[in-house]
Amino acid sequence: MARRPVEASFEAAPNIALVKYWGVRDEALGLPYNSSLSVTLNRLRTRTTVRFDPKLSSDRFLLDGEAQSGGPLTSVSGFLDTVRAIARFETHALVRSTNNFQTASGLASSASGFAALAGAASLAAGLHLSPADLSRLARLGSGSASRSLFGGFVEWRAGTRSDGRDCFARPLHPPSHWPSLVDLVAIIADAPTKPVRSSVAMQRTVATSPTYAQRQRELPRRLRAMKRAIAVRDAPTLFDLTMEECDSFRNVCETTVPTLDYLVPASRAVLADVRAANEENGTTLAGYTHDAGAHVHVFTLQRHAGTLRRRLARIHGVAKVLALSPGRGARPIRRWRA
Ligand code: ADP
Ligand code: DP6
Repeated sequence: MARRPVEASFEAAPNIALVKYWGVRDEALGLPYNSSLSVTLNRLRTRTTVRFDPKLSSDRFLLDGEAQSGGPLTSVSGFLDTVRAIARFETHALVRSTNNFQTASGLASSASGFAALAGAASLAAGLHLSPADLSRLARLGSGSASRSLFGGFVEWRAGTRSDGRDCFARPLHPPSHWPSLVDLVAIIADAPTKPVRSSVAMQRTVATSPTYAQRQRELPRRLRAMKRAIAVRDAPTLFDLTMEECDSFRNVCETTVPTLDYLVPASRAVLADVRAANEENGTTLAGYTHDAGAHVHVFTLQRHAGTLRRRLARIHGVAKVLALSPGRGARPIRRWRA
């Protein structure tokens, strides 16, 4: 690597999983037990600048202006070690990043964070990786980050190889595929910060949940049905499958020993309200889902979004409701300072 500092910046958005990734067959390589499917979102974003600087004696990581230590710094530095090994140099880096939404609360900051880091670090290291290689690289930082490289509707294939060569994400449809689809995100006031990262929690589920094996058997059928519903824009079927999958994910979390309970009463009130709205209308006009956190995503169509948004905003403990759409994939940005 050159004696002068080299720098690059990247932007990436979080994604919300419609079919969840929860459990790895290889922890070092981050190889999941099942394929997953997600929607990359607009409006929420991470921006990251990586600067490799020969003057630094160790890596530094500033998140939203604050110097990080412990787990977050270790994860970033470990990730940079992989990039340095590929690029064959040892220079340390200053990483500056901002998330324009709450970190570690179930809104997938690790997905946008490691997708942006993969892009910025590989560019600054002079690597020009293909989209599939970038996705494989991002996967090593956070599984869900492999999907945030791409916009719109994205599938991350579990693959079968032990070296992970066939384990990366690919775009299924661009953001413009379904313009009337809306994701209303009920932001829960005082959503707790997660005590452990999802990658740690999911392995507890694999080891202890008595219903995990049954969930794994159900997933291929659900994934196929969901891909069909998205391809033909069949909203009621997609929303029903989204809730079925979310309930299955929550079930394996709740049956983990000790239990994993990511929801708070306001989150549960949102789920109940979506069920009630569907019941009242006699048709499935919305479908809820959540990741490992208290915030709840409610998918619906543009024509129902206004009414539903007002309804959800009235729930006690819901701070606000964001109206998001499928968004763009990760991309380089011009020099930018956190
Ligand atoms: P979330 O639901 O937000 O993904 P997790 O607990 O799974 O929550 O992941 C949060 C962790 O992801 C943080 O503690 C930090 O280690 C990492 N992270 C979050 N944002 C960034 C970022 N912008 N750059 C690098 N790492 C990040
Ligand atoms: C419930 O990929 O975020 O959101 O490696 O700890 O960052 P870390 O795990 P992560 O786990 C995602 C779990 C999930 C489901 C999903 O996004 O598929």
